[in-house]
Amino acid sequence: MTLTIRPAILSDLPDLMRVHREAFGGDAEADLTNALLQDSSGAPRISLAAIQNNAIVGHVLLTRLSVDDRQNGSAILCPLAIVPDAQGQGAGGLLIRAAQAACADMGIDTICVLGDPEYYGRFGFVTAIAKGLLPPFPLPPEYHTAWQVWPDHTERNGQCRAADALMKPGYWNA
Ligand SMILES: CC(C)(COP(=O)(O)OP(=O)(O)OC[C@H]1O[C@@H](n2cnc3c(N)ncnc32)[C@H](O)[C@@H]1OP(=O)(O)O)[C@@H](O)C(=O)NCCC(=O)NCCS
Repeated sequence: MTLTIRPAILSDLPDLMRVHREAFGGDAEADLTNALLQDSSGAPRISLAAIQNNAIVGHVLLTRLSVDDRQNGSAILCPLAIVPDAQGQGAGGLLIRAAQAACADMGIDTICVLGDPEYYGRFGFVTAIAKGLLPPFPLPPEYHTAWQVWPDHTERNGQCRAADALMKPGYWNA
């Protein structure tokens, strides 16, 4: 069935939270999405919905990431979710590519993510710590390769700081 991507709007919030609850099997990412959408320190934001059969089946959110004292030009992709019934049909990839294009349009040249390298590597993400791009909080060694950046040729490096809603150690050491 055809998948389309469009910017999420305010009235989508209950559906976006449903998507994250179903995909992650709990409230944490839904609550984080709600908090990030209201967190002014996360602006500018990119919030995109994947639509199938007139229903929202996926969502990705990108919020501001500052690198050292540079406030603009970088974003963090978090969270990304596709409802279980719609997984494996390319919706996640469509959302990531649409987010990359939206960033380019907004002058955002660097995206970081904490996620599975096997998945995000498909979309050009590479390990970030080796580039000197440090996550907001120290990560356990087994998660070092999960902190990734796109594109590979980014010249940004330094200490990253995310929106206030994401600056909680619990999000980074699980
Ligand atoms: C991870 C997720 C966003 C992928 O979305 P999706 O629409 O199912 O993915 P796509 O259809 O674009 O890609 C499917 C491919 O990615 C692979 N894939 C899915 N999740 C993966 C993972 N965590 N690690 C590695 N590969 C993964 C699938 O095996 C499939 O491979 P194939 O094309 O060789 O068959 C989705 O499965 C999801 O919401 N999962 C639960 C929430 C989650 O983990 N979010 C990511 C947090 S960083």
